[in-house]
Amino acid sequence: MARILRRVFLVLMLSAGIATAAQGRETPAADTAGTVLITGSDRGIGFELAKQYALRNWKVLATCRTPAHAQALAGLAASHPNVVIEELDVTDVGEIEALAAKYAGTSIDVLINNAGIFGDVESQSLEELDYDDFVRVMAVNAFGPLKVSQAFIDHVAASRQKKIVTITSGLASMTLTENVRQGFYFYRASKASVNIISRTLAAELRGRKILVGLFNPGVVDTGFGATGYAGPRLSPEQAATALVAFIEALNPDNAATMINHDGTAMPW
Ligand SMILES: NC(=O)c1ccc[n+]([C@@H]2O[C@H](COP(=O)([O-])OP(=O)(O)OC[C@H]3O[C@@H](n4cnc5c(N)ncnc54)[C@H](OP(=O)(O)O)[C@@H]3O)[C@@H](O)[C@H]2O)c1
Repeated sequence: MARILRRVFLVLMLSAGIATAAQGRETPAADTAGTVLITGSDRGIGFELAKQYALRNWKVLATCRTPAHAQALAGLAASHPNVVIEELDVTDVGEIEALAAKYAGTSIDVLINNAGIFGDVESQSLEELDYDDFVRVMAVNAFGPLKVSQAFIDHVAASRQKKIVTITSGLASMTLTENVRQGFYFYRASKASVNIISRTLAAELRGRKILVGLFNPGVVDTGFGATGYAGPRLSPEQAATALVAFIEALNPDNAATMINHDGTAMPW
């Protein structure tokens, strides 16, 4: 009996010691709801995501191409110490790998591949088909999410939530014939590419319990893509709110399918 009591006492002392050590240690995400990394977070939907996660007390790794030009993000970081700005061009392999190395050992609950470009509308019309623009759009929208996801697999796998989410587009859907009327070849192709990339990642990462999500925000009022679309648009706030809710609800049943901002499944 005395031996058992001594053991219980020892375990209690050890736990107290561990707890004290943990309090003294620098654990950046310890008092936050989780850690999220967002690409292209200096404006548009990405900035709204950074804001909403910051307000929800997440640690936000807010990445962008040119921090020196990211005034709104700098303002957000100044008022929210849980926001850290990091430079990241999603087409720059060296930069991606350096950032992943910098955060080695840090768990990232949610990785959001938000950065994207539409490309010049004329240059991707049947009349022009500019090769350099094609490469640029594919590099940012398809290679970028794939490479960023690959670089941060260990960080996500080490986290509690284990989620990688990529923003896609209804313009990539082959089922919605009303969408496939004219042009936008490069943008459509890049988002269709990132759809199959995400599906493949989902299959490969299932063993590590990582959920891969695909979200279609609908048409959002960010100035993205000079398509001449004159219909209704969501605000960036509305799109980000829907995306945060989607990420919260992401589970093995709805992972790797294209989900709309209203929660419905988007036909491919
Ligand atoms: N708005 C819509 O109607 C709509 C609809 C469907 C899907 N989406 C998708 O939603 C995502 C966000 O779009 P948005 O409307 O917020 O567009 P946005 O306001 O134009 O913002 C795009 C963001 O991507 C960043 N970016 C571009 N190239 C980059 C690169 N090489 N590396 C890192 N960041 C890069 C931009 O950074 P800089 O400031 O440095 O340029 C900017 O932060 C995109 O993936 C887009 O395809 C948008």
